[in-house]
Amino acid sequence: MILDASVAAVVTGGASGLGEATARKLASLGVKVAIFDMNEARGEALAAELGGVFCKVNVTSDADVDAGFAKARAAHGQERILVNCAGIAGMITAAPLEHGERGVVINTASVAAQDGQIGQSAYSASKAGVLGMTLPIARDLMNEGVRVNTILPGIFLTPMMATMPQNVQDALAASVPFPKRLGSPAEYASLVVEMCSNGYFNGESVRLDGAIRMAPR
Ligand SMILES: NC(=O)c1ccc[n+]([C@@H]2O[C@H](COP(=O)([O-])OP(=O)(O)OC[C@H]3O[C@@H](n4cnc5c(N)ncnc54)[C@H](O)[C@@H]3O)[C@@H](O)[C@H]2O)c1
Repeated sequence: MILDASVAAVVTGGASGLGEATARKLASLGVKVAIFDMNEARGEALAAELGGVFCKVNVTSDADVDAGFAKARAAHGQERILVNCAGIAGMITAAPLEHGERGVVINTASVAAQDGQIGQSAYSASKAGVLGMTLPIARDLMNEGVRVNTILPGIFLTPMMATMPQNVQDALAASVPFPKRLGSPAEYASLVVEMCSNGYFNGESVRLDGAIRMAPR
């Protein structure tokens, strides 16, 4: 898929952190971006800055998701890219592009899917669910021409992380083999772009983590 102004994308959780960086990166390539998020103030401001649209969506609400897609499609046409930084959604009615491709879905899991820490059983189980569904959904959607990939971020410097005390952030950075720092949301967005533009990238889950393996606590 060639990323340019002919392509529309939906980024859930796009008002902050990894989703925001992804929205910015895609917009910088000319892609028309719709931000689905519950945070109206941040989402509206970012959409205005990027020339995109904001849709107030709680991804756990079917009605919100349906209304969000209706608004995004009215503004940008059929989306080809769905990046899930907040949760899951659905799409399948687009006409095929080159090689029969209709679109790509990118989900955000976590390294906790594989190295869950003490106290993280619910978070790890939910992220392992995202990891586990990647290949079967890619298989489910093969006849539709939709690719499905998942990113497992390590520790990234987003607003979610920035609330932690500096000494905790420093300790986390020191625990990364190399480079000894937290990941940049722009590095996450860069992998999103590769997963979108590389048409052979399908059914895959990729850790993006500076080689970290989380300790038990
Ligand atoms: N930051 C990290 O180090 C890290 C590591 C591993 C995985 N992740 C995963 O990456 C994803 C994004 O994290 P982030 O660090 O960018 O967080 P963030 O808090 O900066 O951004 C998350 C965004 O999602 C929105 N959101 C939350 N629930 C929503 C809902 N139900 N409907 C719509 N929008 C909703 C929030 O309003 C916010 O704008 C999450 O799934 C998180 O678990 C993050």
